[in-house]
Amino acid sequence: MELISLAADNALLQRWDLRREHLYRLGARLEQAREDTLSDVRRWSPEAADLDPLFLPWPEERLQEHRHDPADSLLTQIRQIAQGLADEVENVVVLGIGGSYMGARALMEACCDPYYNLLPRDRRGGPRLFFEGNNVDNDSTRALLEYLHQQGEPWGIVVISKSGTTLETAVAFRVFLEALQHACGHHAATVAKRVVAVTGRSGALRRLADQLQCPVLDVPEGIGGRFSVLTPVGLLPAALLGLDLVPLLEGAAAVNHHFRQMPVGENLVLDYAGLCHLWEVRWGLTVRVLASWCKQLEALGFWYDQLLSESLGKEGQGATPVTAVNTRDLHSRGQQHQQGRRDKLITNLVLRRWRREPVLVPQLEDDPDGLNWLAGRELEQLMQAAVRGTNQAYRHDDRPTLDLLLPQVDEAVLGQLFQMMMLATVVEGKLIDVNPYGQPGVKLYKENMQRILRSET
Ligand code: PA5
Repeated sequence: MELISLAADNALLQRWDLRREHLYRLGARLEQAREDTLSDVRRWSPEAADLDPLFLPWPEERLQEHRHDPADSLLTQIRQIAQGLADEVENVVVLGIGGSYMGARALMEACCDPYYNLLPRDRRGGPRLFFEGNNVDNDSTRALLEYLHQQGEPWGIVVISKSGTTLETAVAFRVFLEALQHACGHHAATVAKRVVAVTGRSGALRRLADQLQCPVLDVPEGIGGRFSVLTPVGLLPAALLGLDLVPLLEGAAAVNHHFRQMPVGENLVLDYAGLCHLWEVRWGLTVRVLASWCKQLEALGFWYDQLLSESLGKEGQGATPVTAVNTRDLHSRGQQHQQGRRDKLITNLVLRRWRREPVLVPQLEDDPDGLNWLAGRELEQLMQAAVRGTNQAYRHDDRPTLDLLLPQVDEAVLGQLFQMMMLATVVEGKLIDVNPYGQPGVKLYKENMQRILRSET
């Protein structure tokens, strides 16, 4: 499988005095961080509080199980449940927030047609997908309820919450379930066929799902929300969209293999984590811009925003993630990235191959807009020139960039990207002595919100 590669300009690294540091000092610490990341898996037990390392062996385990006994594998079970729902409905509302939402959205935006929901059914992989339960926004909730009602087509719900108690998702489930029950004429067996829950082994959502007698998939223990995209949390929506689950997991497994085997200097995960870390602690680049040079990876950027923020934003530490999509954001953030505060490390996500037939700039008679000098050029060439030109401009001003070169955008590459970023985040946590698992800081807003709501009634 062709792997993602990391390109960092050697002259740039030397100018920032990073190669020597990288090789002589950080190298040993990175090796240790890898060892600690792997040994977390061995020392995990259900009692180990705030330790969620099982995302690491998960892809290989699921693939092995599937190869050994496909009829009885989790992948087959997910596909069957997805097919059961897809056969019943035209529209699916996916309810979830944070780690129970961002990954599925990233997969849809990256791997499906950009106009997926607008296509006729025979040109989509499955039902239309809508994401809700990731806010308490009155108007978007009401608008979706009205859309579903006005369409008059059969619809269903996938509700995803590991804890089963997250207020945004739980409240949205009540709202959409009530509407669904109404739409199904309160026929319990029909409702049961149109709802799927993805949740932990116990808890409020599990109880409710049992009551509804709808299919339930487990969020495995030992895998935290933002590390769960390759579990049923992301795989069920992916299967509903008609995406291929095997290459997704194979991509992740390929990164695992590479992570375990390759030395510092040739290791995508260790090198990326190490360079980001050095630029942050030695040179104060605390803002990490993930600049995607294609539109389909914006939601992947949002997924990474959450991963980095919730994993490392602790104890007064952790870089601040920013997602940009270029060339669009060259016309908004570009000025600041070029000449603003010197606190940014820019990582470009660059595509090597586009999926579709090239679009060419047409020739125009009399050249009224003066663009005939570009006639016959492909948009891809314009994009390459934009990437190179922007990197040159940053170099000129001594602003560092890294390039993550992606063979293309598909399930296998998404699997690689997810696993690479999750591993790099854990490794970086080890380097700064922060536990990347758990998110103790978001407890307070939840408690305050509950207290305010309870005292108002
Ligand atoms: O990374 C995490 O654990 C969080 O972002 C959760 O995914 C998020 O809070 C949603 O939690 P739950 O799946 O329990 O509803």
